[in-house]
Amino acid sequence: MAATQMEQLVSLCKRRGFIFQNSDIYGGLQGLYDYGPLGVELKNNIKAAWWRAMVYERDDVEGLDAAIITNRKVLHYSGHEDTFSDPMVDCKKCKGRFRADHIDGKCPNCGSTELTEPRPFNLMLRTQLGPVVNEDAVAYLRPETAQAIFTQFKNVVDATSRKLPFGIAQIGKSFRNEITPKNFIFRVREFEQAELEFFVKPGEDEKWHEIWKQNRIQWWRDQGIESDNLKIYDQQPDELAHYAKACTDIEYKFPWGFDELEGVANRRDYDLGNHTKSQEEFNLEAKCHENHDSTTKLCIRDDDENKWVIPFVIEPSMGIDRGMLAILVEAYNEEDLGNGNSRIVMKIKKHLAPIKVAIVPLKKNSPEIMAKCHELKQKLMKLGIGRVALENTGNIGKAYRRHDEIGTPLCLTVDFETLEQQPESVTLRDRDTMEQIRVNTADLPAYLREYFA
Ligand code: GAP
Repeated sequence: MAATQMEQLVSLCKRRGFIFQNSDIYGGLQGLYDYGPLGVELKNNIKAAWWRAMVYERDDVEGLDAAIITNRKVLHYSGHEDTFSDPMVDCKKCKGRFRADHIDGKCPNCGSTELTEPRPFNLMLRTQLGPVVNEDAVAYLRPETAQAIFTQFKNVVDATSRKLPFGIAQIGKSFRNEITPKNFIFRVREFEQAELEFFVKPGEDEKWHEIWKQNRIQWWRDQGIESDNLKIYDQQPDELAHYAKACTDIEYKFPWGFDELEGVANRRDYDLGNHTKSQEEFNLEAKCHENHDSTTKLCIRDDDENKWVIPFVIEPSMGIDRGMLAILVEAYNEEDLGNGNSRIVMKIKKHLAPIKVAIVPLKKNSPEIMAKCHELKQKLMKLGIGRVALENTGNIGKAYRRHDEIGTPLCLTVDFETLEQQPESVTLRDRDTMEQIRVNTADLPAYLREYFA
């Protein structure tokens, strides 16, 4: 996709109701977006596909949904208070502030090369809880969903009797006060993450890191991303986050080049170790903060070794918003139909498509056709296949065009033949091939269930 097409994609997202600038009517708020009627469906479908693959289709993963506002001590002992920062520079001329590693020695606003020395800028968003405003009331909006998985580790183990290896999955909002949010929903200040913390025996971490890398690449392919547009990048030691022993980025070919879509990190025993009291009882590999506040040991019984161990953690962590952008970029196609005609078609995989079936009346002002459309809508919306829309624009060409643009896999047209001939039938038009077939309405439920299975 070219940069001009990226602009067209952004415009389509607004026009068709996928993504809006937050606080739009007041001029927006940088780095924040709202998801419209189609955006929320697509996002929910991406989250459902992740949850299905990570939780339902495995038998070694449990789920969690923890609070966003986080006790300051959690983010103190996790290392975020001290080290979760990006290098920031100021332009001495125009006073703009930028991420030092995102610019090329020159101010992107005014071109000046007079910049301050880089200094760390902590990305966490602070808030306060309760009516008294003082340092004791400080809490944070979580910068990653992972920490609550670590702090709830013992409760989950006690509740489920899990043994190693096993994982805890969570999807939810995270917040980062990014210095320079950019590239639409790629780098924003409020976003959703889907994270799995997979706990393994110390020593088995490298094997599991490899397994998860392969697993995650396959998942992206299953969401419609071509292999050629995916790349693996093993981070260099000086690029690693403060907690990681190793991290592999899965990169996608965005319009501005390959960029990170997901990280698969080996966090070893850093987090569970940091949040554990009496750390000296364990043979920790990571360098941990001594902990004076934790009330528990985040360990698990290793029956083979007959001892308590602090597991190592492999963490596949993806951004839902970034994933959605990749899926939209990948799906966007401009097709030349010949004779000066063209169409924009979003070839979104059918399990992700915001609307599954659009019911289109051949004529809007035919009460009989409209009645049949309503009857079919009532029937199909109960099938459990997802959202079924009823189009009543009255112009079949426009309806097809609109549903091509928003990625609806099937348009179902009710015409005069539907009313006049037995057995009763409708046409189904395929978004990608534009081919039409006739299906008896009695067979529709089975046909559609099978199609969207
Ligand atoms: N728990 C590990 C962690 O948070 P990360 O590499 O900082 O690791 C993981 O973030 C993923 O979250 C990234 O690969 C990206 O998809 C997404 N992400 C991170 N910061 C983001 C931002 N500012 N806007 C959108 N997505 C972001």
